[in-house]
Amino acid sequence: MKKVLIATVKPFAPAAVEGIKEVLDKAGYEMVLLEKYESPDEWKKIAADVDAMIIRSDKATADIIEAASNLKVIVRAGAGYDNVDLDACSKKGVVAMNTPGQNSNAVAELAFGMMLYHVRKAFDGTSGTELRGKKLGIHAYGNVGKFVAEIARGFGMELYAFDPFVDNAAIEKEGIKPLKSEQELYKTCDFISLHIPSNEKTKKSIGYDLLSLMPKKGALVNTARKEVIDEDGLLKLMAERDDFSYLSDVAPDCRGEIESKYPGRYVFTAKKMGAQTAEANINAGIAAATQIVNYLEKGDTTFQVNK
Ligand code: 3PG
Repeated sequence: MKKVLIATVKPFAPAAVEGIKEVLDKAGYEMVLLEKYESPDEWKKIAADVDAMIIRSDKATADIIEAASNLKVIVRAGAGYDNVDLDACSKKGVVAMNTPGQNSNAVAELAFGMMLYHVRKAFDGTSGTELRGKKLGIHAYGNVGKFVAEIARGFGMELYAFDPFVDNAAIEKEGIKPLKSEQELYKTCDFISLHIPSNEKTKKSIGYDLLSLMPKKGALVNTARKEVIDEDGLLKLMAERDDFSYLSDVAPDCRGEIESKYPGRYVFTAKKMGAQTAEANINAGIAAATQIVNYLEKGDTTFQVNK
């Protein structure tokens, strides 16, 4: 009987685990659940004899991949796979996949939750501002960016986007103005919603030079990855401009400094919450389980992210 391990330090909603189990039961597979584990060693031990793994932001290091000697496929239930050592997977002949789009709406909704919380002054009873009529810049127009645009239209925001990998005509068709450069986007928009992946090219790519272009009362909304921010540059700007704010679902390493020095100019979630809804967990979890079954039974490699 094939074994599938769900290794999630931040567990899926119970309904998602039930959904995953149903898919695996139907295929005649056994599900092994490892939630809230305290060390990679705990994961390593239990991974030793599994055929497949489903993870979230859990760090699938070379060490874990090597310890899983029977592993054939690992699926990151979510979009970003910067937490998976793809080289280690490829070296071992393990297929690595993600489940693009499955949790995008949840992430987009959180971006607006953070914006509203910020412009309404954390609902503290004082007078805030509105999103209507403000300029929203979507930095990377992928699955999350599309949901952000859809919600922003309801709020009556003016929409701009920058994405060198997407055809401008496709962006324009959605009533969004495509801009030619990151610089233009940051210069134009009151809010920037960040959706770039974290990789060697993008790490620390958002820093002082770009952020200082933002108009007065500008705010960066980061539901992507903390690694894409150059925190020295961010801190420099926060110190220089008392009108600039940083809203992030992935609190920066300099969280303590920002919290102590700049009240009212930040929103940080308790832990990464973007995809933390029952719906997103069900969508991504079931997609992951289905992809595993399709790969192990039919060799289907749709959504493979390693070579
Ligand atoms: C993603 O890349 O899909 C999101 O960042 C979600 O991450 P999570 O599954 O750890 O919540």
